[in-house]
Amino acid sequence: MTVNGVAREVEAPPLARLLDVLRGPMGLTGTKEGCGEGECGACTVLLDGVPVNSCLVAAGQCEGQALTTVEGLHDPSGALSTLQRCFVEDGGAQCGICTPGMLVAAEALLRANRNPTEDQVRDAIAGNICRCTGYQRIVDAILHAAKVATQHSSTGAT
Ligand code: FES
Ligand code: FES
Repeated sequence: MTVNGVAREVEAPPLARLLDVLRGPMGLTGTKEGCGEGECGACTVLLDGVPVNSCLVAAGQCEGQALTTVEGLHDPSGALSTLQRCFVEDGGAQCGICTPGMLVAAEALLRANRNPTEDQVRDAIAGNICRCTGYQRIVDAILHAAKVATQHSSTGAT
């Protein structure tokens, strides 16, 4: 499979959870485990661009597919992406357990919809539970990131 743009080979039982393979042999511990049963979204990754709960996906299902984890969201220079920066600036993270999943879910939204409404943002993160922030700061951070990206594309800035 390709993980964050790099071809990776890993040996694991076919029914091993993708979450365990990412955090174990692949060493990508940014993806978090909350509930372990598809309820909280902390383990969200993109599988061929689609957000999935990696605690519910068998590693064997991912053969030949492209995965993106939170470690792959930085900008091409390796700095924080606009989305990640907005989470920091707008207080979108507190304890941080939900943050990787929130970022990945938001990334999927912004790839599909560069100018989402607040309702669309709330829909996109509806599968991600946060017990700290009350959600508004997360929603604000995602809307802020969309606004910055739109301004950059209209001015040609990067
Ligand atoms: S750990 Fe996967 S949804 Fe909660
Ligand atoms: S920041 Fe703590 S669960 Fe969201």
